[in-house]
Order: sequence, then structure tokens, then C-alpha cells
Amino acid sequence: MSRSRFLDMDSLENGLTTTVFGRTEIDYLLTTGSTNDVAREQAEKGAPEGTLVIAEYQSRGRGRLGRFWHSPPGSGLYFSIVLRPRIDPTFFPRITLLAGVAVAEAIEETTALQPHIKWPNDLLLQGKKVAGILTELYGDITSPRIILGVGINVHTRPEDFPPALQQSATSLTGAGAHNVSRLKLLQALLGRLEHWYGRHEQGESTAMLEAWRRRCPMIGRRAAILSGPAEIVGKIIDVDDDGCLLVEDEAGQVQRILSGEITRAITP
Ligand code: BTN
Repeated sequence: MSRSRFLDMDSLENGLTTTVFGRTEIDYLLTTGSTNDVAREQAEKGAPEGTLVIAEYQSRGRGRLGRFWHSPPGSGLYFSIVLRPRIDPTFFPRITLLAGVAVAEAIEETTALQPHIKWPNDLLLQGKKVAGILTELYGDITSPRIILGVGINVHTRPEDFPPALQQSATSLTGAGAHNVSRLKLLQALLGRLEHWYGRHEQGESTAMLEAWRRRCPMIGRRAAILSGPAEIVGKIIDVDDDGCLLVEDEAGQVQRILSGEITRAITP
């Protein structure tokens, strides 16, 4: 295991400020395919809300849009949480947004760094991706289960990323943070996730959306957005209450984009 020691689950629990996240069950794995897959299996077997599945290494870490999430041993945080939302699961894109805010806040709390958020859920430092979130919804309206997966590059060195990612990915250490404790980062993050998820479950999203917007410098700028096969070019106006991106296209029409990604900023 490189750079940092193994995560110690007793120390994790001792320093948690949460009442549910990381309190109900913890599945700590040295190696696995994908923590999202393990968490899903646990959820199918009845694992309660807040169950945490965390791995030191993932051989098949998954990203959004079918991508691979590079998960070298011991140098990042790779975990998934089981959620059993009580409010309408159609609000589930908001969970992706609230997770982005929570990750940004935990990084701010643990380091001096201030990440930006790129819709829907990329965390960027100095324009490079440092963390990502994969939210997957299973079950039906009577018994929805959400697996919230978070990957953060903590100590990953540039040469540890595959060549194709070396220009676009970074880590907290790579962006200038010193002596980052993965344990403290995880404790802070579980606290912020539980806070925002609790408010979400109470039907409150205004403060979370404001916190999200404050960290999204792309609002007001022109960009290209890929949504399915379509590329939309226009000015990013906002995210709406449902987490959709609002873009004024070249014809002056406001498009509401449910899923996709911002592929590039366009300078005027
Ligand atoms: C993305 O930005 O594309 C999302 C990346 C999500 C990666 C995390 S690592 C823990 C969890 N398990 C996975 O297989 N993926 C998520």
C-alpha cells in the first residue's frame, strides 16, 4: 500500500459527528471491483441507510457515462453509501448536487483548497478533476435505494494516473495540500453528507443549491454541453431545483438538461 497507512475503522468511528452515515454498518475492503457494486449487493440484502462500503483499491472503479475510475491503492478515498430516501425519488438528481457540495466543503475543511464544481458533479482544482460522484438509483417508487459513490484523489501522483488522464486529473496533494489525512477527510465528508442529505429529506434544497452555485464559476459563461448524442452550445444560466442545467442556446431558447456533461468552456 503506497504513501499512507491503511484506514482504521475504529478511529473513523471514534471521530464521526454523524448519527447514521458510517454508524449502521461499515464494510472495509482492502480490494474490490467497485464499492458501488458491493453496496448495491448489501442494499439488496437489506443493509440499512448509512451503510458505508469503503475500499483501499478498486480494480473496476466506475465513473459516470460508463467510464473507468482509476483507484490506485491507498492514495485515494473510494467509498459508497446506501441511501433509502423517503421523499420522491424523482428528486434524486439533487442528491448528486448535494454530494458535490459536501465533498467541496470537506476538502475546504481539511485543506486550504477551494474546489470548484463542474455540473453535475465533478470537483475541480486548478481546472483539473480531483473528485467525482456516481449516484445510482435502484428499486421502485415504493422502495427506492440509492448508492452514492464518491472517489477522491488524495495523494495520487501525476505519474500514477494513466497517460490519458495526466493533463486533466489531479489530487489534493498534487494541488498543493500538505499532510492530508484521508481519515479526517472522510469524517468531515460523512458529516457534511449527512447534514445536506437530512435537509434534502426534509424537502429543503435552497441553501444547498446556493452553496452549489457559489462553487460553480461556469454559471454565466458560454460552454459546450454533451447530452446523449447532442452537443448544445450556449450560455449556462443556472441549475434548477431539480438539478437540471439551464442553458440558453444559440437560438435564444432555454434548454433544460437532465444529464450530460460540460465538455468545454467557450471564450466569447
Ligand atoms: C465520475 O466522476 O465519473 C464518478 C466517479 C465515482 C468514483 C467512485 S469511487 C467509489 C465508487 N465506486 C465506484 O466504482 N465508483 C464510485
